[in-house]
Amino acid sequence: MATAPERDIWRPEAIVGRQIVLRRHRVENLRTFMRWYTDPEVARLTRYQQAPLSQDEIQRFFYSRIMGTDFLSMAIHLRESNRLVGTCAFSQLDGDNGSTLFHITIGERDAWGLGYGTEATQLMLEHAFTRLALHRVALTVFDFNARAIRSYQKCGFVEEGRARQAIFRDGRFWDEIHMSVLLDEWEALRRSADR
Ligand SMILES: CC(C)(COP(=O)(O)OP(=O)(O)OC[C@H]1O[C@@H](n2cnc3c(N)ncnc32)[C@H](O)[C@@H]1OP(=O)(O)O)[C@@H](O)C(=O)NCCC(=O)NCCS
Repeated sequence: MATAPERDIWRPEAIVGRQIVLRRHRVENLRTFMRWYTDPEVARLTRYQQAPLSQDEIQRFFYSRIMGTDFLSMAIHLRESNRLVGTCAFSQLDGDNGSTLFHITIGERDAWGLGYGTEATQLMLEHAFTRLALHRVALTVFDFNARAIRSYQKCGFVEEGRARQAIFRDGRFWDEIHMSVLLDEWEALRRSADR
């Protein structure tokens, strides 16, 4: 079990960005999760299954993954209003190999395309590479999710492979793209952004 200071480094109270703040999740966030994860468009972009999660599934997902200790989950709030707009997380944290898997959902549709997802991903990468001392962050994304792919590319993720025609959506098969960013790539991107 992590001691309090260790826990605070691993999962800080807040990670402050320019437009957004990542905060630890609170039990009250479940109500908002219910709305996001019953939205068919969120399901279309994030799930292998066609149907959104049921309320029971959302509740189980929230308590085991979001509030639990296996995932490092953070809520995405707008900095100015503190409005909760999304969630992001690391799963499969593997200290031996210095790697993890990244997930993100901006659940509020009116908050899509405003730069919040890219900034949240950048903050999580900084946390992964500086505080958690990881070496590699990976993710998967469906080929039809152009907005997500673009956002990940801006953060330094590169395609490393494809599960070919792994998902049937909107009447056809699509690939699932595997992307990752390594520590030295992230450092180089950051140096070029500082110039
Ligand atoms: C994917 C997600 C995290 C991206 O965050 P966001 O805040 O919406 O995206 P951003 O505004 O930071 O960046 C989006 C980029 O994609 C571009 N974009 C938007 N729609 C696009 C489209 N249809 N095709 C190509 N590019 C697109 C934007 O122009 C922007 O790039 P730019 O800054 O170079 O112009 C967010 O949209 C989301 O959570 N969506 C729903 C769930 C989801 O798809 N999760 C990811 C599952 S892998």
